Amino acid sequence: MQFPTERPRRLRASAAIRDLVRETHLQPSNFILPLFVVEGEGIRKPIGSMPGNAQLSIDELVKEAGEAHALGVGGVMLFGIPKHKDEDATGNYDPDGIVQRAIRALKREVPKLLVVTDVCNCEYTSHGHCGKIVDDDVDNDITLGWLAKAALTHAQAGADVVAPSDMMDGRVAAIREALDDAGYQKTPILSYSAKYASAFYGPFRDAAESAPQFGDRRTYQMDPANAREALKEMELDLAEGADMLMVKPAMPYLDIVKAAHENFDVPIAAYQVSGEFSMIQAAAMNGWIDLDRAMMESLTSIKRAGAHIILTYFAKAAARQL
Ligand code: PBG
Repeated sequence: MQFPTERPRRLRASAAIRDLVRETHLQPSNFILPLFVVEGEGIRKPIGSMPGNAQLSIDELVKEAGEAHALGVGGVMLFGIPKHKDEDATGNYDPDGIVQRAIRALKREVPKLLVVTDVCNCEYTSHGHCGKIVDDDVDNDITLGWLAKAALTHAQAGADVVAPSDMMDGRVAAIREALDDAGYQKTPILSYSAKYASAFYGPFRDAAESAPQFGDRRTYQMDPANAREALKEMELDLAEGADMLMVKPAMPYLDIVKAAHENFDVPIAAYQVSGEFSMIQAAAMNGWIDLDRAMMESLTSIKRAGAHIILTYFAKAAARQL
């Protein structure tokens, strides 16, 4: 008998056979592009730590979203940066706030593009935390009221999906109830269920001007060391009415993405966050890695782990490659 009888390299010998046996395929329609919207007109203010990304006024946002749509990108995720921040994040649930006006403009100008909104308070509070501060901590139940109001104003403005990212207990139920009571039974909730207190959000907090002014987010976001707790969070969110579940960040948490995919039969999303994006960009700018290959490999790994939906700042660039 000849050795070896098994030769896995046979199935790698040409591009044609590699194409034939490839298990994981990326599709632009599964990408969601996060975008940052600011007050003003004609504004496209580059975000230094996130090459290719900018804070956009609504007119520029419409252009950017139109381009993403033309490339087949599945949707956009909106983050608003208000002119005025206060203790109680009132800009987040102002029916005429920055995000609410952005949603209306997008629905008017790019009606077929899926608009997802981030429902968090941190961009709207003067202290940068994700809710009401009581005794130096974020008060869970007061914050639920803000989130429910914000999600409702997003739905009323025309948002296709609302996505709470605050990690308060009970937020999905509070949002579901507010939406249903107002007649928005059809608006789905994409819950940031397993959102970790991660160092990889650094560049985002610059982009969204949302860094906490004191302390950190560890009393509400999850401990990076925990996996079983993520399953509990996801179970609770499903029981409260979440339609889709998200894991965030993505690459350092692929085990959680895989566990989510194996345990729950709803679409699983993963957010390749700002730090993941910026690390790849920075290494590529130094000539240390190939940008396009690292981009596609990172996205493929996230999909292979079980994420059907990927939120990524590479959405347009990756769609162009596909
Ligand atoms: C809001 C929010 C954050 C991100 C998405 N929604 C920041 C945070 O929790 O501090 C991070 C996204 C990214 O890093 O790309 N709470």
